[in-house]
Amino acid sequence: MKVKIEASGVGKRFRRRLGAEEVEAMAGLELNVYQGELLCLLGPNGCGKTTLLNLLAGFDTPTAGSISLDGCPVRMPGPEAVMIQQEYGLFPWRTVRGNVELGLELARVPAARRRRLALELIALVGLNEAVDRYPRELSGGMQQRVALARALAVEPQVLFMDEPFGALDAMTRHKMQAELIRLWREKEMTIIFVTHDFNEALLLADRVAVMTPRPGRIKEIITINQPRPRNLLSPEAAQAREAIHRALVEGIMTSNPKEPA
Ligand SMILES: Nc1ncnc2c1ncn2[C@@H]1O[C@H](COP(=O)(O)OP(=O)(O)OP(=O)(O)O)[C@@H](O)[C@H]1O
Ligand SMILES: [Mg+2]
Repeated sequence: MKVKIEASGVGKRFRRRLGAEEVEAMAGLELNVYQGELLCLLGPNGCGKTTLLNLLAGFDTPTAGSISLDGCPVRMPGPEAVMIQQEYGLFPWRTVRGNVELGLELARVPAARRRRLALELIALVGLNEAVDRYPRELSGGMQQRVALARALAVEPQVLFMDEPFGALDAMTRHKMQAELIRLWREKEMTIIFVTHDFNEALLLADRVAVMTPRPGRIKEIITINQPRPRNLLSPEAAQAREAIHRALVEGIMTSNPKEPA
């Protein structure tokens, strides 16, 4: 298996304001992400999951260690790796089509081709009827689909998703999870997906990386060997759930309690 992203000895310190004490968000983090895998990232609030995505995507730089994509150091965000945030990040003054075309505009794709590609993607995520609607006219699930279509428009090799389905109701969430698996297979992307939901991780992931509390590092990686669609009531799922739970608890018990949050 080819390593797509390699994080080695990664540390990150933040200074909240000038003169204030530094916060150590991450220390000695080691992680290899394989090409084409769907890796779920799970860990307690404030352990550094969003920070890690930002570092891997090149939005921020580590204060220690190194991060590479396809063997090259990551220095800035590029079209090969795209992030989807929890609040969708849509532009309210642009229609669905306008939002999906955004990345293509930045890449200077000619208008006719841009339009055709955008319509294809909108169909792919099932939003045909909403092409000319504005984000405020869409439900959370539909906005999430727009964000997905917009991310896919630039044909990224890597997709970072930060609790993307956290705000959706159970049924919509279930639909989006199935949709994501379908798109992931079709586009052969590498996906790093942050979630707090054990079931979501068990449904989606090839591997689940469990982080320790701050300063975050990878405590354990649990491989999910079940074929998809997954049965969450199977003995295999119960075993994986147990392993994730154990890694989380162990991480919390052995973390350094003297650092304030
Ligand atoms: N820009 C910043 N400036 C200062 N501190 C920051 C900054 N970004 C993150 N931190 C701190 O780094 C730590 C990790 O934050 P991060 O947002 O990565 O956690 P998280 O795992 O994504 O949490 P959650 O599950 O709540 O989303 C926290 O203590 C946070 O306060
Ligand atoms: Mg976060």
